[in-house]
Amino acid sequence: MTAQGTFITFEGIDGSGKSTQARMLVDRLRDEGREVLLTREPGGSPGAEEIRRLVLEGDPDRWSAETELLLFTAARRDHLERTIEPALAAGKTVICDRFADSTRMYQGLSRGDLRAKVDVLHNLMIGREPNLTVLIDMNPETGLTRALGRQGTEERFEDFGPDLQRRIRAGFLDLARAYPDRFRVIVGGRDRESVAEDVHRAVSSALP
Ligand code: ADP
Ligand code: TYD
Repeated sequence: MTAQGTFITFEGIDGSGKSTQARMLVDRLRDEGREVLLTREPGGSPGAEEIRRLVLEGDPDRWSAETELLLFTAARRDHLERTIEPALAAGKTVICDRFADSTRMYQGLSRGDLRAKVDVLHNLMIGREPNLTVLIDMNPETGLTRALGRQGTEERFEDFGPDLQRRIRAGFLDLARAYPDRFRVIVGGRDRESVAEDVHRAVSSALP
């Protein structure tokens, strides 16, 4: 049997600090001498980055909820084939900023109830779960203020406002309770270094 790398994902509402924490974790793991790949969704491969522009920029109403689900899943399939699986096969630690749990929440809960369809499509087309998922939990008001503080054109879901963010936060916490072996919940509303310390501790215990 060949050595398989470890697949770690970051999840949480917009502005919870996932990207910041993923970068800090990667720096620290590399300092420890590990081979680490940092990637993100939607995106992470050339084709998936093209799809990212389709779903996060321009008029969101040009996609139905179902089409949007298919686009996020298509992006993930390409990312998995071309970026994630080759890196894991090479024994690397893969850190991914968002993955399938984001689809379970955003597409599953935001426009009608597609939650069951999300799981069917995931099982059919993706079929891989992370070894560990770091959920950065934080209250939506703080998250939205932070997210809207960033200037950018990708405001697709931030624009939905605090009510959706609250439902998504609660949904992530439900997922964490349903899959306690895979999830580690970290309190995000603190200074970067304190959060990073807890993230590092949680991840270290999961690495070989
Ligand atoms: P996400 O990837 O979850 O959307 P980011 O890492 O992009 O979150 O962080 C959102 C914003 O909040 C950024 O401007 C970032 O610099 C800032 N930020 C991240 N972590 C913290 C923290 N612990 N305290 C205060 N601001 C933070
Ligand atoms: P991201 O760049 O991680 O945004 P943020 O830094 O604000 O957390 O993701 C962009 C948006 O895409 C985010 O609002 C969540 C959404 N998204 C989905 O709706 N479904 C998905 O499957 C993924 C991966 C992201």
